[in-house]
Amino acid sequence: MVDDDLPGLPAPPPLGTGALPDGTFDGDAVFVTGGGTGLGRAIAVEFARLGASIVIASRSDGHLAAGREAIEAIGADVATVVCDIRDPAAVADSFDAAEERFGLPRVLVNNAAANFPSPAEELSPNAWRTVVDITLNGTFLCCSEFARRHLAVGTAASIINVGASYAWTGGPGFAHSAAAKAGVANMVETLAVEWGPYGIQVNGLVPGLFPHEDMTGDIRAGLDRGAPGSLDLSQPALRVGERQELGWAATFLASPYARFVSGHTLVVDGANWQRRTLTNPPVATVRRQLGLGPFVPEIPPAPHPS
Ligand code: COA
Repeated sequence: MVDDDLPGLPAPPPLGTGALPDGTFDGDAVFVTGGGTGLGRAIAVEFARLGASIVIASRSDGHLAAGREAIEAIGADVATVVCDIRDPAAVADSFDAAEERFGLPRVLVNNAAANFPSPAEELSPNAWRTVVDITLNGTFLCCSEFARRHLAVGTAASIINVGASYAWTGGPGFAHSAAAKAGVANMVETLAVEWGPYGIQVNGLVPGLFPHEDMTGDIRAGLDRGAPGSLDLSQPALRVGERQELGWAATFLASPYARFVSGHTLVVDGANWQRRTLTNPPVATVRRQLGLGPFVPEIPPAPHPS
C-alpha cells in the first residue's frame, strides 16, 4: 500500500514531442527489426520524427503494414522487408533491400524477439530453441550482417539491442527468454569492444513496464491479473512507462550526443528492476501464477531398478 499523497515520478512530455534537435537523423536510415508493432514501432516513430528514413523488418505482412502506416503518418520515408531474423540469408537479403532503397542504414535496432510465459518444465526442446534462436541468434545475425557491411566500407554506425532486466535477475516463467536476453546483454559488451575501433557503437536498451496495444495475449493476461490500477502501484515510479520515453532513449543512444556511450545498457524502467527485498510478496509457483495444475509428465518415468 502506497501513501495516497505520493506523486511518483513526473509524467513525461506528451507523445509527439521531440527529445533531440529537429533533423538529428536527417540523411540516416534506421533498420528496426520487429518495428511494425509495439515498442519497436514506438522506437521507429521517434527516429522518424527526427528525420530518419525507416526500414522495418518483420515476419508478418500485417505488422509491416501497421509499421508503414505509423511512419507515413509522421511524413517520413519507410521501406518494409519480410524477414525471419533466424535465417542468415533472409537477413542478408533484407539489408540488400534496405541499401538499395536508402543506402546502408547507419543505425540498427534489434528489437525483434520471441516470448511466451511457460513453466520451465513445460518447455519443449523446440520451444526453447525457437525463443533462443529468434532472440539471441537472430540478434547476433543482424548485428554481424550490419557490422560487416560497415567494416567493408569504413563507415561509423550504431547498434541498439533491446534487452530485458531479467537478463540479470533470472525470469521465473520465462527461462528461455531470460537466458536469451542474458546472452544479448553479454553480446553488447563484447561487440562494443570489438567494433569500437571501427566506429561502431553497440548499446543495450531495456524497457520496463510499457503496456501497449500489441502485447501478446498471454503476456497481457499476466498483467491483467492484478487489481485495476495495480500496475502503476507496483512500480517505484508509481506509474508505468509511456512509449515515447523508450523512443527518446533509443534516439539518444544512436545520436551524435552519445558518441562516447558504447557497451552500455540503458534501463528505462523507473528503477523497477532494483526493487528487491528479503521479504518479497509470498511465493507463488509459476504454475499457479499461470493457472496450471500440477505437472503431469507426458511419458511416465521408467520404474527405478531395484
Ligand atoms: N506456450 C508454450 N509453447 C509455445 C508457445 C506458448 N505460448 N508458443 C510457441 N510454443 C512452442 C510451440 O509449441 C513449438 O514447440 P513444439 O514444436 O514442441 O510444439 C515452438 O514453441 C515453436 O513454436 P512455433 O509457433 O512453431 O514457432 P514460430 O517460429 O512460428 O513462433 C513464437 C514462435 C515464440 C515467436 C510465437 O509464440 C510468436 O509468434 N509469439 C508472438 C511474438 C512474440 O513473441 N513477441 C514477443 C513479445 S515480448
